[in-house]
Amino acid sequence: MSMTLRRLTRAATAGLVAAAALTAAAHSAEAADTLGSAAAGQGRYFGTAVAANHLGEADYTATLDREFSSVTPENEMKWDATEPSRGTFTFGSADRIVDHAQSQGMDVRGHTLVWHSQLPSWVGSLGASDLRTAMNAHINGLMGHYKGEIHSWDVVNEAFQDGGSGARRSSPFQDKLGNGFIEEAFRTARAADPAAKLCYNDYNTDGVNAKSNAVYDMVEDFKSRGVPIDCVGFQSHFNSNSPVPSDYRQNLQRFADLGVDVQITELDVEGSGSAQAADYTKVVEACLAVSRCTGMTVWGVTDKYSWRSGGTPLLFDGNYQEKPAHDAVLSALGGSGDPGDPGDPGDPGDGTLSCTATYTRTADWSSGYNGQVTITAGDEPISSWTTTVTLPAQQSVSSLWNGTPTRSGNVMTVRPSWNGTLAVGASTSFGFTVAKNGSDAAPAVGTCTAS
Ligand code: G3I
Repeated sequence: MSMTLRRLTRAATAGLVAAAALTAAAHSAEAADTLGSAAAGQGRYFGTAVAANHLGEADYTATLDREFSSVTPENEMKWDATEPSRGTFTFGSADRIVDHAQSQGMDVRGHTLVWHSQLPSWVGSLGASDLRTAMNAHINGLMGHYKGEIHSWDVVNEAFQDGGSGARRSSPFQDKLGNGFIEEAFRTARAADPAAKLCYNDYNTDGVNAKSNAVYDMVEDFKSRGVPIDCVGFQSHFNSNSPVPSDYRQNLQRFADLGVDVQITELDVEGSGSAQAADYTKVVEACLAVSRCTGMTVWGVTDKYSWRSGGTPLLFDGNYQEKPAHDAVLSALGGSGDPGDPGDPGDPGDGTLSCTATYTRTADWSSGYNGQVTITAGDEPISSWTTTVTLPAQQSVSSLWNGTPTRSGNVMTVRPSWNGTLAVGASTSFGFTVAKNGSDAAPAVGTCTAS
């Protein structure tokens, strides 16, 4: 859709959006029984990352529309998706997400303008002067297309190295333009869309540490010199190696005290059950304790499409059932849902048996590979499960363990051998060896059914 057309369409849909927002507000006054409406009651948004290619899946879209008040395109606004060759902008997938969000009265976070990753190779091959021109043209192209439609933009993403040094990360921008590229990107962004909040976004900056100190120093410097920055995004990807820091709230607060908003931008916590729920609670409570923490975004709707799907890090399982973490977040947001009510669809005790199946390749050699499918029970204990593994036509399975296969053509239906009984959130797995016969493609794993 052209820029002009986007703006016209936006004007035409403004009434619809306002109506949707009114409906959401009325809904929230009645009963804050969704994440978005409960967060709205606290003056915050509650968002999720969205992938355009899942919007056609009814359960995905129903969950998205019901629960969330903000969306972040997971990959569709990145440089490789929007300007794959110089000066040629492609907005199809991002437009689909923005149009969907607007039709539901949801806000949109823009992610991301300048990042070392998902960067087309042509950018890296430019000389310094040309690179500066291309960076500014990219910012202007994207922000111009969505002018007035994005509540916050991640202007620069992940510009600092991990580890103890607090140094800047090597990238075409850093290496050729030096530290000043960040400031230049923010100045260009402010002129391109003065209404958007301009954010610096990073990971492993959630607690007080050398990396967050380096970002803090940069923000302090920007504020003292009038470089336009409105917000800092804390990605918050947590697991056992990178747990929720004990000084999370304190860290958010010290940034807020510099005069910027803070946002939790890519939240996910690997795990399951009450431990995962407790970690989510800590994050929500930290945000609510900081008045300038304006909203939270989880990095996906359902575990099955998470970038860390094996770690089941999100609020809805692969069958869109609410996990204990969902109920904990709703409750921490002051929602009046009824966690644990057996009559509440998706809650523990509602009698819905569910499981998810996640595939990984565990070994690989020229003529074959080993695959593994991990089965995880949902919010109820289960006594059996069934899933399918569909192999590319040329491939054949030579052995399978910890499961009972029934074969029909290239589709294997797999049931338990000894391992059907799983407690709430517990996992088991079966494995198999495949002869490639010339095809290295991955098998497709079907929906998991529990009984
Ligand atoms: O779309 C192609 C598909 O056609 C192809 O068959 C397949 C083969 O691997 O790849 C697909 O693209 C993948 C894309 O996700 C869409 O699923 C890319 O390989 C994969 O690299 C890409 O991963 C994304 C990752 O950023 C890339 O850096 C994740 O989805 C996305 O969640 C993740 O998000 C980042 C944030 O932008 C920044 N912070 C960290 C966060 C997590 O890594």
